[in-house]
Amino acid sequence: MNRKKIVAGNWKMNMTLDQTKDLISQLKLVSSNEVEIKIAPSFTNLHYAVSLLDSSKIEVVAQNIHFENSGAYTGEISAEMLNSIGVKSVIIGHSERRKYFNETDHILSKKVIAAISNSINVIFCVGEELFERENNEHFDVIKNQLSIGLFELDNDQLKKIVIAYEPVWAIGTGKTANSPQIQEMHHYIRNLIKSNFNDDISNEIRILYGGSVKANNASEIFSLPDVDGGLIGGASLNFSDFNAIVHAANG
Ligand code: PGA
Repeated sequence: MNRKKIVAGNWKMNMTLDQTKDLISQLKLVSSNEVEIKIAPSFTNLHYAVSLLDSSKIEVVAQNIHFENSGAYTGEISAEMLNSIGVKSVIIGHSERRKYFNETDHILSKKVIAAISNSINVIFCVGEELFERENNEHFDVIKNQLSIGLFELDNDQLKKIVIAYEPVWAIGTGKTANSPQIQEMHHYIRNLIKSNFNDDISNEIRILYGGSVKANNASEIFSLPDVDGGLIGGASLNFSDFNAIVHAANG
């Protein structure tokens, strides 16, 4: 199965409008037919990013949505609003949203439905905490997050999803999971998709790794059989690092 690799930059709460303009003007020089390149700027910069990348293959992704389309939810942004500015994908379930904003699996499952109902594709993040891995609970944790978040979807809906496995202890820490740990979990996730959906879908779904992916470890991680690219935090804020990671995905 030849799954096209994805390299997605999660800018988190970084980058002013001017910095966004500068980084995008550099990124526009990166082109790859082999890799889908995505960037997720903050809400304030989304519309601008969409217009700057209008004729580019680089896709603009949001970092979060609310599960309602509109209403009295001060400070929130809906899938319908993203649609109206030409944003076609959103990250849901990032560990920072789970941890700092108390987003439970049930809230996340509502967000997934809201996105898909508005024709917005989803990068759905799962990952275990360090203590859960140390207690050998990591497979159960991932299974539970996926079951509540995704396993109520039908086959067509699941085709709108990319999964990102991001062990929480590897995010922003400089510690990556090692290759056997990454491959083992990605293979486990693909098998869960197979048993809950079907062979074809499990062969087609892209599963990204995230957590301290850098220019110097990306090639090794991307060469693992069940890894289909990466969700990149810190290293996506610097053009030469992100460019090197895209090249690593090119193989
Ligand atoms: P990191 O972040 O690459 O800085 O570890 C990854 C992520 O949070 O998606």
